[in-house]
Amino acid sequence: MTIKPVRKAIFPVAGLGTRFLPATKAMPKEMLTVVDKPLIQYAVEEALEAGIEQIIFVTGRGKGALEDHFDISFELETTMRARGKSLSVIENIRQQPGSPVYVRQQEPLGLGHAVWCARDIVGDEPFAVLLPDELMVGTPNFMAQMVQAYDNVGGNVIGALEVAPEETDKYGIISPGARDGALTEVTALVEKPAKGSAPSNLMIPGRYILQPEVMKILDAKEKGAGGEIQLTDAMAKLIGQQPFHGFTFNGERFDCGDKTGFVTANLALAMARADIGPAVRSFAEARLV
Ligand code: UTP
Repeated sequence: MTIKPVRKAIFPVAGLGTRFLPATKAMPKEMLTVVDKPLIQYAVEEALEAGIEQIIFVTGRGKGALEDHFDISFELETTMRARGKSLSVIENIRQQPGSPVYVRQQEPLGLGHAVWCARDIVGDEPFAVLLPDELMVGTPNFMAQMVQAYDNVGGNVIGALEVAPEETDKYGIISPGARDGALTEVTALVEKPAKGSAPSNLMIPGRYILQPEVMKILDAKEKGAGGEIQLTDAMAKLIGQQPFHGFTFNGERFDCGDKTGFVTANLALAMARADIGPAVRSFAEARLV
């Protein structure tokens, strides 16, 4: 079996972000900043560092700020240049003309539906999916580690992270088979299992490498948990037909779609910074006594 390289990545950014209202009423959740960078930029940088060549955003109404973020900001750049200020901090964000690719999900019908909206851009190639509201911190980064694992085993490789057993009803959960280092064979998948019925405490975080056949399954637009078209249900149908592994990331995950995760991500990343870290740390220490 030849293993095709992963060149394309889908970023589903069409969700409503209701857990983060009122912040997300007029601003996309993916533009929330951790220290000084929006979540979407962390995710795009993770993909580019992992060797991804084509960035595909699945967007919706009210998400224009995301497109502007990766474009030229004419007034800002002209003014900064005139004032002799360095543009490096914004110039390195800008993508090549014609990239990223934007497709629309007219209604937020679920993650599976969002991924399916990019089917024509993906074509018959394997692709990555990154959910930008999950901030992953590690070296090499999460997607880079996954791509490395995928290059050995091929097929489908999804994140697999342990959570507390009482939390399993919030996530897609993996039924695990044989384990080999960071890779775990996936024997079944279930989205948001009822309390007490989860096959393990291995949840699926927002990082995936999938084969294009999943798009054919998503064509059926079957609804699952919460009445949404679930990516987990479509992926589950590939098990047995193609290699399917969970990958345990050596690093940290912050769920920034949730207030606690967002605040702790800001604290952790701020404390790790050379410029502001000492001041933030001494403030936190003083508060904790
Ligand atoms: P979430 O499950 O966090 O949903 O989506 P959400 O709507 O953004 O947020 P809440 O739950 O209302 O607060 C995870 C990712 O999938 C995208 C979101 O934009 C987010 O990046 N998504 C979700 C879509 O693009 N389309 C959908 O139909 C659902």
